[in-house]
Amino acid sequence: MQTIFSGIQPSGIPTIGNYIGAMKQFVALQEDYNSYYCIVDEHAITMPQDRLKLREQIKSLAALYLAIGLDPEKSIIFIQSEVSAHAEAAWIVQCNTSLGELERMTQFKDKSLKNKRAGVSAGLLTYPPLMVADIILYQTDLVPVGDDQKQHLELTRDFVERFNNKYSSGQPILTLPEVKIPEEGGRIMSLQEPTKKMSKSDKNAKSFISMLDEPSIIRKKFKSAVTDSSGIIEYDPINKPGISNLLVIFSAFSGQSIDSLVTMYTGKGYGEFKDELATAVIAVMEPIQQRHAELLKSDELDLILDQGAESARKVANKTLQKMKNAVGLGRKSR
Ligand code: TYM
Repeated sequence: MQTIFSGIQPSGIPTIGNYIGAMKQFVALQEDYNSYYCIVDEHAITMPQDRLKLREQIKSLAALYLAIGLDPEKSIIFIQSEVSAHAEAAWIVQCNTSLGELERMTQFKDKSLKNKRAGVSAGLLTYPPLMVADIILYQTDLVPVGDDQKQHLELTRDFVERFNNKYSSGQPILTLPEVKIPEEGGRIMSLQEPTKKMSKSDKNAKSFISMLDEPSIIRKKFKSAVTDSSGIIEYDPINKPGISNLLVIFSAFSGQSIDSLVTMYTGKGYGEFKDELATAVIAVMEPIQQRHAELLKSDELDLILDQGAESARKVANKTLQKMKNAVGLGRKSR
């Protein structure tokens, strides 16, 4: 069986963008793959976080993983900082990655511009090597992510090829992973600025729908989503990014194709479309929210996370040892 790894930062409550781009795929893929789904808390501290809120968000994200349908019998669910191999492997990756490669990462450029250089942690620059470490430690074949992670996956593949070429004699030490981006919905846009990506850390809460927004809020946010003045429901991301984004969201939540939605809504107004879109999203989110609330109250969650970390450690430590041997760290493993 092939292996999957993916992660989400607990830097806020996941949005429907995270759900469509990543989480929805996780659930489908766990059936056919050996799956590792991680709460990447070490990534979250590349930006300033309130410690108590971070703690809360870590648990909340773990509960969401289960609430969407990840099954601990099929998937290993764990918290990154509870498996120390991630930080250790990241160091080896950093020492085999050039500064130029990291400075070219668009996410680093965007975030460091927004936060002015002086306030930017060095971790923001060295974050992609930590992501490389996450992936390689499990000898991952496939990484389901949204479109914005494509560049990080290219960096991962470059690293694996370079590392294997340099250090393997015979069998490659690390598996070369493939990226898996959904054909539709790999980049859900902001509801307020539909040319910008929807983001859980956006200061304007109207720009995203969080997976824990109450139904009435979901309806309100869709109602105030920016569209255009033509009033025609059609898919044209260049000229009509607002309504096109809403069509992608509607399609992801209803299971109907964009074409059939366009036909269904011919001659109808944006108001009616948005209201029915909200109904489709609420129908999926409400049961997830209920299960999420139950899980947070139970002891089940801690047990699953303890077991997940233990299983993850075994696999990760094995690869880490191989990497240490390859570069010559410590004494030769016995
Ligand atoms: P993060 O936490 O920003 O996002 C989690 C996942 O959601 C996807 N995503 C989106 N998809 C569609 N539309 C959007 N607007 C949208 N916003 C986010 C992301 O592409 C991602 O798949 N670096 C990663 C976390 C990470 C990781 C890893 C992922 C750390 N290590 C190893 C895979 C493998 C991140 O910041 O995701």
